[in-house]
Amino acid sequence: MRPRGGFMVDDDLLVNEFTYNGFKDAIRLGYSLDDAFLREIKIPVHDLARHTLIVGSTGSGKTTTAAVLASQLVNYGSVLIIDWNDEYFQLLNNLGVNGGLVVNDNVRLPGTLGDWEDFITILDDVLELTDAQAYLLYKLHDEFGKLDELSVGDLITLLESMQPESKWMLETKASLLRKLKMLYNVKTRHLYNVDKTLMNDPLLIERKINIISLRDLRDLKIKRLAALTLVCFIEKIKKLKTLGNVYIVIDEAHNVIDSNLLNRLIAEVRKLGIGFILVTQSPAVINNSILSNCNVRIFHSLKSYADIDIAVKSLGVNELRDVLPRLGVGEAVIDAPSFNGAVRVKICAKQYPVT
Ligand SMILES: Nc1ncnc2c1ncn2[C@@H]1O[C@H](COP(=O)(O)OP(=O)(O)OP(=O)(O)O)[C@@H](O)[C@H]1O
Ligand SMILES: [Mg+2]
Repeated sequence: MRPRGGFMVDDDLLVNEFTYNGFKDAIRLGYSLDDAFLREIKIPVHDLARHTLIVGSTGSGKTTTAAVLASQLVNYGSVLIIDWNDEYFQLLNNLGVNGGLVVNDNVRLPGTLGDWEDFITILDDVLELTDAQAYLLYKLHDEFGKLDELSVGDLITLLESMQPESKWMLETKASLLRKLKMLYNVKTRHLYNVDKTLMNDPLLIERKINIISLRDLRDLKIKRLAALTLVCFIEKIKKLKTLGNVYIVIDEAHNVIDSNLLNRLIAEVRKLGIGFILVTQSPAVINNSILSNCNVRIFHSLKSYADIDIAVKSLGVNELRDVLPRLGVGEAVIDAPSFNGAVRVKICAKQYPVT
């Protein structure tokens, strides 16, 4: 039986209901480990629209925590999960989400991004273009005019038809084509969506969690391309369609965290109603701009001195230096704008009734 004013966690633990500042729309995470009585910890949904970071060493409970967030955020908008290791379907099922799940394990990369600047930024992020290669792409743009609806395949065709004016250009053209063909070739062609109409894409559905499984893409470059084109695509869809809030979970975020595109989106999309939930092992790989743009910070157990140092500085509480390496699986130190300070929390990976 569920007692009034509290809820049962694990088998026999009663947690006191506690709502920060009386917020009704909040995500229930678990209970505080700092208090003498078990105080329930919730994060108001609007805090999560201002980006969330989940970090912790291997096996500390990051993916489970992200799934707990996703399982409840679906009540407040659309959720898209970039799933590198095929973990979320099972986890969300265990958390009682099934009717609201769409699993997309036959992922197609958007046929075009509609926007030349973003397209080049992503190619640069994924292929690590040299200055000469990037210059050649801009030259192509100048020569052929508006290239906004281009796909990777179209770009290869266009580049092949370009007449090099000098030896360096000839060499750069050949090296750029080699790189582009790593992304688009006879073996990978079927991974791209032939439909170039942005509006037709059912990626975002209100009150649904769409899990994009990257497992079958195999090659890391193509996985990165897929993750980046998909989030960029969501920004475009969100600008065009009337949609509620969108939450994008990127697990294994270290694979894309240094991307210029992701950095731009994290700084800009908040006002569009898109909240990122970034999940990664080490805060040391995250640049300051991303760190300062993530208002909810969930630190699971950290082991390395460099990681602990960054976490402690980011939380502004030196006493946590000894706490962070000793956290158990599923325990975390959490800070959010609506909290009065960092809280040590046991995340309860269970099905929560809708608040
Ligand atoms: N809050 C929790 N309560 C109980 N068990 C948990 C909790 N969080 C994680 N676990 C268990 O710990 C194990 C590792 O969890 P999880 O995969 O979420 O960790 P991770 O930090 O994402 O790991 P990785 O670094 O491999 O991605 C799993 O067996 C999971 O069931
Ligand atoms: Mg994980």
